[in-house]
Amino acid sequence: MSLRLGDTAPDFTAQTTEGPISFHEWLGDSWGVLFSHPKDFTPVCTTELGYTAKLKPEFDKRNVKVIGLSVDPLDSHHEWAKDVAETQGTAINFPVIADEDRKVSDLYDMIHPNADDTFTVRSVFVIGPDKKIKLMITYPASTGRDFNEILRVIDSLQLTANFSVATPVNWRDGDDCIIVPALSDEEAEAKFPAGFRKVKPYLRITPQPNKTEETDSASA
Ligand code: BEZ
Repeated sequence: MSLRLGDTAPDFTAQTTEGPISFHEWLGDSWGVLFSHPKDFTPVCTTELGYTAKLKPEFDKRNVKVIGLSVDPLDSHHEWAKDVAETQGTAINFPVIADEDRKVSDLYDMIHPNADDTFTVRSVFVIGPDKKIKLMITYPASTGRDFNEILRVIDSLQLTANFSVATPVNWRDGDDCIIVPALSDEEAEAKFPAGFRKVKPYLRITPQPNKTEETDSASA
């Protein structure tokens, strides 16, 4: 059965470029991004892994561990990493799973036979500290992903988890947020010292809670 949002991310053991891992244990209390690429020594994948490595400070800031995957063997990953370093100007600084037996690919339904029956598609899973799947996206092999969009979604997910706000269309960090419908007006008044604008009973706008002066002075 295929995975859905809210499901527990399947646990597994695997060989990676940074040694064997047990997935849930490796995640610990962190958020996680598990992403597959179709194949080592291919152009789009080379750019993706380099860019993701450059984003490490951004992932670290958000307490997110990143892990890649393809069905190529470990020695191929290590050899290809040299090309990524040479062409993208950065070493790969996260583990990449060598899923030769497709154990993890099958668990996460990363091989879509009508696209290609051999290689993984470009899957992305964001996993919360509770090990639940928070986001799933799938791109075709020919389209490189926008990893800034992954960061944007993680920011939104963390705002919801920490402050009970959702984010509107095209939201960017620093923009106003939406108070989740589960909160009453009374609860919202207590929770959001910066106040909120009630456009409709179900549409209540508040400044991004972790950017307001109240939050800044409380955390100073
Ligand atoms: C690439 O990474 O460039 C790629 C991989 C598989 C199919 C098409 C492109």
